[in-house]
Amino acid sequence: MRYLVVYSSRTGNTEKIAMEIFEALPGKSKDIQRVEEYKGEADTYFVGFWNNRGICSGDIMEFLDNLHGKQVAIFGTCGMGEDREYCSQVSRRVEALIPEDNRYLGSFMCSGKLSFEVLKKYRFMQKKEDSPWIRKMIQAYEEAMLHPDENDLKNARAFAEEIVSEKKENIYGDKRR
Ligand SMILES: Cc1cc2nc3c(=O)[nH]c(=O)nc-3n(C[C@H](O)[C@H](O)[C@H](O)COP(=O)(O)O)c2cc1C
Repeated sequence: MRYLVVYSSRTGNTEKIAMEIFEALPGKSKDIQRVEEYKGEADTYFVGFWNNRGICSGDIMEFLDNLHGKQVAIFGTCGMGEDREYCSQVSRRVEALIPEDNRYLGSFMCSGKLSFEVLKKYRFMQKKEDSPWIRKMIQAYEEAMLHPDENDLKNARAFAEEIVSEKKENIYGDKRR
């Protein structure tokens, strides 16, 4: 198979992005699978994760660890997706988990809404003790509330299209492993 989109998603945000990327991939030699159901083999992988405390979840760590001799792009969603610097730190951490014998193609990240339970927890903490940190967390919750939105989906599609285009291969050729 040419392309495989493999992803982990607890609440559906990453799944939305995964489906958009899958649809953007050309041809019929492609598949999309949740990581827990993964089976098969492909030349190019798009691996999707949700940000679990600054990195991907354990299932994706394990999945990446077992990838060898492939072309690998990563994508993810996180609560603080509006903070681009934070997002690039997270994607660099996940990128570092890809074994060296693969060819890294690039990453995409966007915001994904958090569960209402998280807001309740923040409000509870704020009542006990207000701080700039807790206000920042509540603001991030509010900003993420409507994501992934149409624009995120559009950007995810553009990311996939760029990865598969020859243009990308030329531009990023020397950055790849
Ligand atoms: C246990 C847990 C830890 C999380 N840690 C972070 C974090 O450190 N930073 C962040 O920006 N978002 C964090 N999030 C938010 C999720 O990454 C975000 O809501 C993501 O879009 C969920 O994706 P999913 O719907 O595909 O499961 C966390 C969520 C959970 C449940």
